[in-house]
Amino acid sequence: MKAIQLKNGFGFEELTMMKLDKPTPGPTEVLIRMRAASLNYRDLVVLSGLMPIEVKFPFIPLSDGAGEIVAIGQGVTRFQVGQRVAGNFQQRFIGGNPRPGVLEESLGGPLNGVAAEYVVLHEDGVVPIPDHLTYEEASTLPIAALTAWSMLIEYGGLQAGDTVLLQGTGGVSIFGLQFSLMAGARVIITSSSNNKLERAKALGAWQTINYSEVPDWDKAALELTGGVDHVLDVGGAATMGKSISALRTGGTVSMVGFLSGLTIPEYDVSSILHKAATVRGSQVGNRDHFEKMNRAIAHHRLHPVIDRVFPLDRIGEAFALLAEGKQYFGKIVVQI
Ligand SMILES: NC(=O)c1ccc[n+]([C@@H]2O[C@H](COP(=O)([O-])OP(=O)(O)OC[C@H]3O[C@@H](n4cnc5c(N)ncnc54)[C@H](OP(=O)(O)O)[C@@H]3O)[C@@H](O)[C@H]2O)c1
Repeated sequence: MKAIQLKNGFGFEELTMMKLDKPTPGPTEVLIRMRAASLNYRDLVVLSGLMPIEVKFPFIPLSDGAGEIVAIGQGVTRFQVGQRVAGNFQQRFIGGNPRPGVLEESLGGPLNGVAAEYVVLHEDGVVPIPDHLTYEEASTLPIAALTAWSMLIEYGGLQAGDTVLLQGTGGVSIFGLQFSLMAGARVIITSSSNNKLERAKALGAWQTINYSEVPDWDKAALELTGGVDHVLDVGGAATMGKSISALRTGGTVSMVGFLSGLTIPEYDVSSILHKAATVRGSQVGNRDHFEKMNRAIAHHRLHPVIDRVFPLDRIGEAFALLAEGKQYFGKIVVQI
């Protein structure tokens, strides 16, 4: 089978198309013919060797993929051959809150990922995908969609009538927009591009703010609303203070991303105190939430927003687009 591997170490130049033996499922495992995989910012951090995880080489990258089950072990009870599925990013995170060690069971680092024609996974680490989605669309769900769903709907308790502030127009934020609308909330979204803000508006955003032109976007959001109910913070160091500033009293910031870094050298925490804010860190999501999310996606006939699809042998171009940062809207996908 064809697979992409990092043979000896990290770096773009190490991405190599290999011919490997097709794996065989053990008694409780399923063999998936992967059809599509999607890229996350995390994949770039793993590829650069900057993710604090231990990766063994040769290593197959990419966390998120969807395909069809083509063989099952004799003890498998959750699936049958022919079912369309996606892998759950954290393979043994089934329900409840994240527990220690959850990061060590992540596909696409430290575990081998899904950039391969055939992948074997434990049946517990797999979920069925909605019928109306293509494999390309379904491949975007495990990290980006599940993170937005978990933080807004499951842990965040988003209500109809709430206002959500989203940052930028990458994978997590565009799913955040779609799920907020599904829940009856209204959305303020920021971007560095007016063109992308137009696209977000066409998807249903209530208000848009260009964060390059309006660096005090938190004040702009306060003026529009008097304080938002929920912020999905994907910026990290450069945005966290402003995310808290944009909140209403009693509002919530979901600390999801670190696009601008993780360290705030000096930060006055009094605004968290005065606003009685909740700040909740994110570890993507569990399988129960993934299944609930898929049910909602199916009921609402929601389609993920894909910017571009590359064939597997052009995965380097897909990574280059991801590394450019701001040249895409929604998700980047590779076909397998
Ligand atoms: N903890 C978790 O559970 C979890 C799960 C998923 C993702 N993440 C993290 O969340 C972050 C976002 O992930 P993603 O996959 O959605 O990324 P992505 O698709 O690569 O998002 C890129 C977009 O983010 C926007 N952006 C970049 N820097 C920004 C800044 N300083 N302020 C506001 N917006 C900015 C830009 O939007 P415009 O071009 O519109 O300006 C850019 O196009 C990453 O750090 C990722 O590692 C964490």
